Amino acid sequence: MRHPREAGDCRGSSSFLKTGEAKYVDWFEYDLVCVGFPSYQWHLPEEVDIFLKNKLNGYRQQGRIKPGSPKVSGKNALVICTYSGPHTGISEAIPAGKYVGQFFDHLGFTILDEWYVVGEFHGSEEHNSKGRLGDIRGRPDQEDLKKNKADAAQLLKRMLGSSYPFTVTCCWLIS
Ligand SMILES: Cc1cc2nc3c(=O)[nH]c(=O)nc-3n(C[C@H](O)[C@H](O)[C@H](O)COP(=O)(O)O)c2cc1C
Repeated sequence: MRHPREAGDCRGSSSFLKTGEAKYVDWFEYDLVCVGFPSYQWHLPEEVDIFLKNKLNGYRQQGRIKPGSPKVSGKNALVICTYSGPHTGISEAIPAGKYVGQFFDHLGFTILDEWYVVGEFHGSEEHNSKGRLGDIRGRPDQEDLKKNKADAAQLLKRMLGSSYPFTVTCCWLIS
């Protein structure tokens, strides 16, 4: 039988929450917080930005943002940004991903990875076919999802490393 860590298998609990539902969720109660959002003008949708700023302000009031942002053991984040890149490709997503990562980095979370996932530009034929990434209709497709799955297994392996426990509590924040 494969060891759970080799298999990238993890047991535990996962919560999937829209940012509108996650106001009172304490990120520190989870081993891994995944935050997913689309790139809008190489930034993020306003409601996600407001959600993140409000959370950070709350933690600031609790004195949890310390000089040097020391790492908090066992607290991890994964940043997932979908984008269409019609003009400058992935450069339209990276600024948004880096920006969101800072909310967690400031609190001492380890940013395990940033995923930039190509997604169709809903409602714009031009942006879907004439952009720098070519024809992106139907993205993310099965290949993209396969890659995400493999990346998730690698990420869990890296996160669990040689340490205890094998169970992971995970919070997905989606816009
Ligand atoms: C108002 C709006 C602005 C957008 N701006 C950008 C942009 O600046 N750069 C980019 O790469 N994609 C942009 N997009 C495309 C979205 O990022 C893309 O459609 C989305 O990430 C796809 O994921 P989804 O299928 O989960 O919505 C924009 C989409 C909308 C609706």
